[in-house]
Amino acid sequence: MKNTQPIGIFDSGIGGLTIAKAINQLLPNEKIIYFGDTLHLPYGDKSEEAIRHYCQTIAWFLAEKNCKAIVIACNTASATSYELLKKMYAHKLPVINVIDPLIKYIGDKDFKSIGILATPRTIATKTYQQKLLKQNKALIIRAIAAKSLASIIEEGFQNHPSLINAIIEHYFSKSNFPEIDALILGCTHYPVLQKQIQAFRKDTKVIDAPLVVAKHLKAKLSKLDLLSDAKKNEDKHKFYISDYTSNFTKTAKIFFGEKIELDYCPLFSSNG
Ligand code: DGL
Repeated sequence: MKNTQPIGIFDSGIGGLTIAKAINQLLPNEKIIYFGDTLHLPYGDKSEEAIRHYCQTIAWFLAEKNCKAIVIACNTASATSYELLKKMYAHKLPVINVIDPLIKYIGDKDFKSIGILATPRTIATKTYQQKLLKQNKALIIRAIAAKSLASIIEEGFQNHPSLINAIIEHYFSKSNFPEIDALILGCTHYPVLQKQIQAFRKDTKVIDAPLVVAKHLKAKLSKLDLLSDAKKNEDKHKFYISDYTSNFTKTAKIFFGEKIELDYCPLFSSNG
């Protein structure tokens, strides 16, 4: 394994670009190969079996692309498929999910109560809840499923402050999350609204999940002596999606913070 090999990152779509963005900022010398499964988006309301099948195929694709690590940049995929991918690949390359780094981060703090907002599938797996309680059985947890927030963010309503404020109030009000010390934004899309959510819940620490995951990846690669020493090169990353419409290019900018080129990859087509 060479340290100049790329980091593979995948998500159900383009929301995982919030994680890719944090990794790109923290580790600018790294080359990223991103795969967004826009054909099967959203994962949040799919069965566990279906999600595991998609994740297995994408992990195979990233391993074939010679990635030195795989980052599951999707909460729903992490909650349903991490154990499987770890079993399949961890002997060859590190597999990182977006849940365990947050559990560890919370374990290092003195939070007494935690709120979690995530997709229905992530909440239904109880992965966050069980891992948090295993670490601290006295922790008070309030977990809520949001069916539509990811789609609302994808619609690009961030540019309509009054609408966004109403949406934030709907999901993050005290009636949903009374007296919590910290909040996990348990879906790749939500960090786009992190600043506004933090301003709305001044009493609560809104955890910067992409940064926590990026730091975890950096520590892991460093430990394995796999951090790249290549020179920074703006055009080096590759972004693939399994179904292409020009709209995805528009929304990708919301999540990655800058315009990027998305390439269609027929991974799931019959001759792909
Ligand atoms: N990427 C998903 C997650 O983090 C959100 C979108 C979806 O439901 O696929 O849970």
